[in-house]
Parts: sequence; structure tokens; C-alpha cells
Amino acid sequence: MRFLITAGPTREPIDPVRYLSNRSSGKMGYAIAEAAIEAGHEVVLISGPVGLGRPRGVAMISVSTSDEMFEAVRQHTSRCDVLVMSAAVADYKPAKVFKNKIKKGDATLSLELKPTRDILTSLPKNRRFLVVGFAAETENVEANARKKLHEKHCDVVVANDVGRTDSGIESDENQVEILFLSGEIKKISRAPKKIIARELVKVFANVREKRLTKKMV
Ligand code: CTP
Repeated sequence: MRFLITAGPTREPIDPVRYLSNRSSGKMGYAIAEAAIEAGHEVVLISGPVGLGRPRGVAMISVSTSDEMFEAVRQHTSRCDVLVMSAAVADYKPAKVFKNKIKKGDATLSLELKPTRDILTSLPKNRRFLVVGFAAETENVEANARKKLHEKHCDVVVANDVGRTDSGIESDENQVEILFLSGEIKKISRAPKKIIARELVKVFANVREKRLTKKMV
């Protein structure tokens, strides 16, 4: 199967030397890319700026801003069977990018932000690839993730609690809940991201396989 995976944060420039970003390390997305290769799949990895090396066997596309990630996903979905949106795409970007470095002053400084384009909701509803969204939550994990599953027209959502200090964001470990459109939920308890990734790849490939078989019957 052909996996298209996004990973890491995006950077939204404020001026030539500053940007808005988030704490995503890219570890979960990279682990999924590695696990998919290990399982014999083809992988295109669209990555925001992270401090990780390119996983072996992966075709890599490096991006920085949410707009670049948006375009890269658009360009590659036609050739994928499973899209895994594990990137922590910025929700807002500065309404204006300053041409020169903003100089320090004594007064307070306000930045106006505008929403970025949502990659998941902009995907065509009528598509042949499986869409996996991620839900990074700090409260009401299950309910919020279910909302994203439906509102973002995903086939599967992987939810993780990013408020915890022992797993999730920046950590080498994670614990996730996988939500399906059927209402079913599969929990994967705390484990290294590598182990979680192997399980996720199996689940995604199975759902995709089942869907294909159902369509053929
Ligand atoms: N996502 C996206 N485009 C964006 C922002 C997010 O496609 N501009 C995707 C992420 O890659 C992830 C999913 O949407 O798969 C959910 O991201 P998350 O940050 O958990 O939720 P948001 O939609 O940003 O909502 P909120 O921050 O309010 O929880």
C-alpha cells in the first residue's frame, strides 16, 4: 500500500527571524513512517521542521509553513491509499508577515492572527484513499476526538492526550485511542512510539483492505 504521512509542526513566519510554532517533535509520524516501511508499504513523508533523520526507504518532502504542507498534501493524495495526518499543523498564522525584523519597544505589542487552511476538511469527500486524522487533546479526549472524526470527514481518528507529561507530545512514549466511524474504539496502552506505530500501521492497512473488499462485493 502507498502511505502518505505528515509529521512534525509547521512554522508560521512573523518577520524574517521569528515564527509561531508548536512543540510537536515529529516522533509519532516518523515512527509510523518507519513502521509502514518495515511492513512493506511505500511511504511518502511530508515533514515540518524536526530534529530527526530521514527514515530509510522513505520519500521525503520537507516543508515549513501550513500553506506548504497544504500544497504538498494536495499534490500527493492522488497517488496514495492511506493518508495519515499526524502533523501538528498550525491553526493560526500572522495576518501580516513583517518584511523587516520587528524592533523592540517599551509598549505592548499585539499580533493579529488569521486561521490557516484546514488540510483535512479541504480534502474531497468522494475519494478512494483512507483518511486518518489525529486529535491532540488536553481534555475530554474521546468526545473531542469523535467530533473531529465527523467534522473533518475522517475515516479513522487517533486521539492522544497531550496534557500528560509521561507520554504524547515530545515524549518517546504514547498511549492512544483509535476511533472508527462505526463507533468502535480501540485503546493502545502506554508504550514506546515505535510499538504504537506498528499497531497503527496494521490497523490502517486493515481498515483500508476491508473497505476495498466491501466495495468489490
Ligand atoms: N489539521 C489539518 N489542517 C490544519 C490543522 C489541523 O489538517 N490547518 C489536522 C491535523 O493534522 C490533525 C487534525 O487536523 O490530523 C486535528 O488536529 P488538532 O490540532 O488536534 O485539532 P484542530 O483541528 O487544530 O482543532 P483544535 O486545535 O481546536 O483542537
